[in-house]
Amino acid sequence: MGSIANAGNATGANLASACWMNGSLVSAAEASISVFDHGLLYGDGCFEGLRYHHQRPFRLDRHLQRLRRSLRALDIAIPLSDRELTSGVTACIQHMNKDAGYLRIVVTRGQGDLGLNPRNCLSPTVFIIAAPLTLISDERRARGVTLVTSSIRRAVDTGLDPRIKTLNYLHSILARAEANAAGADEALLLNNAGLVAECSAENIFIGTYGILLTPPVVDGALAGITREALIELAAADGIPCREQSLTQYDLYTADECFICGSGAGLIPVRLIDGRAMTASPGPFYRTLSRAYDALIDRECR
Ligand SMILES: Cc1ncc(COP(=O)(O)O)c(C=O)c1O
Repeated sequence: MGSIANAGNATGANLASACWMNGSLVSAAEASISVFDHGLLYGDGCFEGLRYHHQRPFRLDRHLQRLRRSLRALDIAIPLSDRELTSGVTACIQHMNKDAGYLRIVVTRGQGDLGLNPRNCLSPTVFIIAAPLTLISDERRARGVTLVTSSIRRAVDTGLDPRIKTLNYLHSILARAEANAAGADEALLLNNAGLVAECSAENIFIGTYGILLTPPVVDGALAGITREALIELAAADGIPCREQSLTQYDLYTADECFICGSGAGLIPVRLIDGRAMTASPGPFYRTLSRAYDALIDRECR
């Protein structure tokens, strides 16, 4: 089964990509990092994934804020200002010369030695990639996707806060592999207390008793930029919406469910662990996906 939102396959992505490193654009073939880079050796770093529309990045300010928070939490200092990162993003978008697309901003702790001591990494590696993102088809989006609960837990209270968008995505990758094996489209991750956290690369919302609910970030949900935008849009539209801890029972008995992320956009869910939602797409999804498209048009024009 195809993925919900995946960066394009290696060959295609390389051909049609833009990379920005050390202040200038380089080809994908020229863009290289050391085998001693701790991002590669240890997943020591963080990243942002964002979209651009009409050649303008959507909510880059929020992505840069979240990146700065991840960097502070990891104690990685980069010598680049937001203005410099923004000009890297702009250079990639201009190089792609497409109306819309997807970008990654990646920061690693940089080159060190084989030991894991971060002190031995002298300067962070920073790069930006623009590359195609293969999206779920309109037909599958209209039909809604299927979720299975993963055996992999989103760990909270371990000292490694899930709000840090680190380069280590093994929990998500293994969860997605389980979903693949089960023939489902996406994996649902619970936290170590058994509460709903999020999906492998998307936040989750349910509509129940006429209220829109989403797990709080303390339950292991990433502080998603799309999630934040939807909470704002719900408030503007008079839709009752709040953060609330959710269990599998809440999901199984919900009227509707959808997942959201910068890559995926908004996607309705029709089945969770074999239980059908009452409506897919549901009324909240319909209202908010229209409002989200309009928001993008307003902010990226
Ligand atoms: C684990 C996880 N949760 C949620 C999201 C959605 O966040 P955003 O809306 O900021 O893209 C992502 C996006 O990368 C993610 O990786």
